[in-house]
Amino acid sequence: MQTEKHLTGTLVLSVFTAVLGFFQYGYSLGVINAPQKVIEAHYGRVLADINEDLTTSPHILTMYWSLSVSVFAVGGMVSSFTVGWIGDRLGRVKAMLVVNVLSIAGNLLMGLAKFGPSHILIISGRAVTGLYCGLSSGLVPMYVSEVSPTALRGALGTLHQLAIVTGILFSQILGLDFLLGNDEMWPLLLGLSGVAALLQFFLLLLCPESPRYLYIKLGKVEEAKKNLKRLRGNCDPMKEIEEMEKEKQEAASEKKVSIRQLFTSSKYRQAVIVALMVQISQQFSGINAIFYYSTNIFERAGVDQPVYATIGVGVVNTVFTVISVFLVEKAGRRSLFLAGLMGMLVSAVAMTVGLVLLSKFAWMSYVSMVAIFLFVIFFEVGPGPIPWFIVAELFSQGPRPAAIAVAGFCNWACNFIVGMCFQYIADLCGPYVFAIFAGLLLIFFLFAHFKVPETKGKSFEEIAAVFRRKKLSAKAMTELQDLRRGEEA
Ligand code: GLC
Repeated sequence: MQTEKHLTGTLVLSVFTAVLGFFQYGYSLGVINAPQKVIEAHYGRVLADINEDLTTSPHILTMYWSLSVSVFAVGGMVSSFTVGWIGDRLGRVKAMLVVNVLSIAGNLLMGLAKFGPSHILIISGRAVTGLYCGLSSGLVPMYVSEVSPTALRGALGTLHQLAIVTGILFSQILGLDFLLGNDEMWPLLLGLSGVAALLQFFLLLLCPESPRYLYIKLGKVEEAKKNLKRLRGNCDPMKEIEEMEKEKQEAASEKKVSIRQLFTSSKYRQAVIVALMVQISQQFSGINAIFYYSTNIFERAGVDQPVYATIGVGVVNTVFTVISVFLVEKAGRRSLFLAGLMGMLVSAVAMTVGLVLLSKFAWMSYVSMVAIFLFVIFFEVGPGPIPWFIVAELFSQGPRPAAIAVAGFCNWACNFIVGMCFQYIADLCGPYVFAIFAGLLLIFFLFAHFKVPETKGKSFEEIAAVFRRKKLSAKAMTELQDLRRGEEA
């Protein structure tokens, strides 16, 4: 007898192929850190060639470098808005297939950067790769949540994060100067995730379209059943088909939901606030301050070998994401999210203490280092992986594409803000910079405690019902209060 948790070859292939998109996201996120010095030097030479009379000022170099780093998130922000439209129009698989062209183009631009004006080629390459990653960061969770059986949705959803952190780790290791992070090889380093794009492109040809999409969007019942059988093996597809039928009726009764309606209809308010807040919590926890600037942070914390400490962070990050894959179906999303935020809060305080007291006690550098590792560990326990899949769980078919697009945009925008501002804030606040994140983490913890529902093991329908109940009970409370006030008067 097959259980609902059965992992078939097709399911594994489909999920693996989809999350290759997240691997590229992680790779692009981490790759720009290590080779900064060599590429900046190259920019200097290129700019001097273009304008021989001018010596390139550090100011101009910094500007080009900041643009090279952050334009990636701008690309992501822009394209994440179109996710719902593309996903619905082409279907999940075809959409992922088509957007891969962006990744291949972006990586080519960067890989060939030495053959032209490098700064322009890299900036445009990063922007185009960002466009790809923005689309992919919406399409992949959409597809994975739709092909996974309810019992495995959390664990399979956590694989997004695993793919990201593996991508980051790969880029950190390959970026070592004796591997690809040197003057000769950096174009290859930057363009290498094109290989993952090619692999994803060909594997997607073997992946079944999401049965949910086929059944609910296109009304193709037989094809949906066929694909469900491929994904589930010998399981009886009828239970899931019934679930889809319920969702379809719900979707039919609520019509297609646009982004505007998502914000204006009170029906979705609770879920939208939760979806946005989990993204904001993930990014404003300060995690990417670590991933963009860890070497610098370790240096300030008095650590001897900052580059290796950075790779250490990548390793710890990956190991704990693996652990979280198993935890998430046991402990539930809500508890892990809360535990993660609290752990990060304590670590941020410890980090601040370490940095502030460094001038008095040299051993404080160890306190800071351990605190940074713990910060990353707690992030991966909950706030890292959960936001990537919980949005798809919070909404039924009708509003899901719009919700994913909005949540994706929010995530990228916050990522961009942290990437752009951290260095300035760090200069301004000195050792107290992580105290700001500690304050934010406290707010996020309290919010999650009161507002984030448990979604583990629940169908989309049941989750929607939780929000309805919350809304109803809030409404009942207000009515009761009004009644009491009336009686008192
Ligand atoms: C999450 C975040 C991403 C971050 C990563 C670190 O996936 O979305 O921005 O870099 O975790 O592991």
